Amino acid sequence: MTRSEEKKRGGNGRGGMFQVGPSDHTILVVEDEEMIRELVAERLRLEGFRVLEAENGKAALSILDREKVDLLLTDINMPVMNGIDLLKEVRGAQDLAVIVMSGQGDLEVAVFAMKAGAHDYIMKPVNFKILIHTIESALKRKMMEQALRDYQHNLEQKVAEQTKIINEFYLRSVQSLVKALEAKDEYTRGHSERVTFYSVEISKRLGGAVDVERVRTAGVLHDLGKIGVPESILNKPSRLTDDEFEVVKKHPLLGVKILEPIEFLRGVFPIILHHHERFDGRGYPSGLKGEKIPLEARVIAVADTFDAMTSTRAYRKALSAEEAIAEIKRCSGTQFDPDIARLFIDIYDSLTLPEGVHLPEGISSPRASEKPQITVKEA
Ligand SMILES: [Fe+2]
Repeated sequence: MTRSEEKKRGGNGRGGMFQVGPSDHTILVVEDEEMIRELVAERLRLEGFRVLEAENGKAALSILDREKVDLLLTDINMPVMNGIDLLKEVRGAQDLAVIVMSGQGDLEVAVFAMKAGAHDYIMKPVNFKILIHTIESALKRKMMEQALRDYQHNLEQKVAEQTKIINEFYLRSVQSLVKALEAKDEYTRGHSERVTFYSVEISKRLGGAVDVERVRTAGVLHDLGKIGVPESILNKPSRLTDDEFEVVKKHPLLGVKILEPIEFLRGVFPIILHHHERFDGRGYPSGLKGEKIPLEARVIAVADTFDAMTSTRAYRKALSAEEAIAEIKRCSGTQFDPDIARLFIDIYDSLTLPEGVHLPEGISSPRASEKPQITVKEA
């Protein structure tokens, strides 16, 4: 079938995966010599392209500002703004193909134009058969580039969607583990919620020094490793032996090991691992000292200890809030980061406890208010 026959059927004679339909494409012809410009424009119109004309680079830029152009066919030597300067201006416009027209002997300039981002070049005087072929090739290449960009974009979107699904799956698994721990050690549930609440409240007042959402997640998960500590130790009604305490000391690392496959929780691992470090370096598991301990872990440490002290455990009765605050003060600078301890003491009375997060019996303030927002979030 000839091109004219195919045109009668509505085609364009330019088959293949990326069909170039002239009527779908606008070409801007930039040429200072009016006769050549009109000749080229007319010929392209005959081919079915929509054609715009400009006499120099500056006029072309003003057309590009207001018109959607698919292909720029530009001369190089022009007054006001030449083709190379025009090329520099449009470089980076992903949806614009550029062909330069170069006079005889301008081959070096043409090569320079190609390096500057032109898709192709043709020599003057223009051979129209070659010109049409060059235009079709440039448009096809542009369409293929666009298709590739779309494909990559779609691929990235698909990967993001799949990652979200996998993350949600992992989150549900982790939440099941937290529930399992709650069933095993009743104390932990209220404890994790309160530690999360106190830690988040401290974090909010650290002026952006910590990621509040990361602290929230770490608060929920900080004792997850206790799932690997025998119930006989967790609920022992008397003081733990040294050996038993060694088992308890494994829970931060165990928590991290359980969560290790969950890539997006990576940010909370150091917080979980170091929430039992002491500011003076006598804590566990690493004996980190002072600012070597992640700030978020120093926050959790204060909240965790305060709540542990104000809770009745299997082996001892709870302290009052006042007694626990006094203890936090006493251990400031040894067990706790003094800045975090002071901040917690300063805000404790003004805290409003979310509804559903219950204080241990006999502990007054913070007051009850809205629903708690304690969930595991991406960190
Ligand atoms: Fe812990």
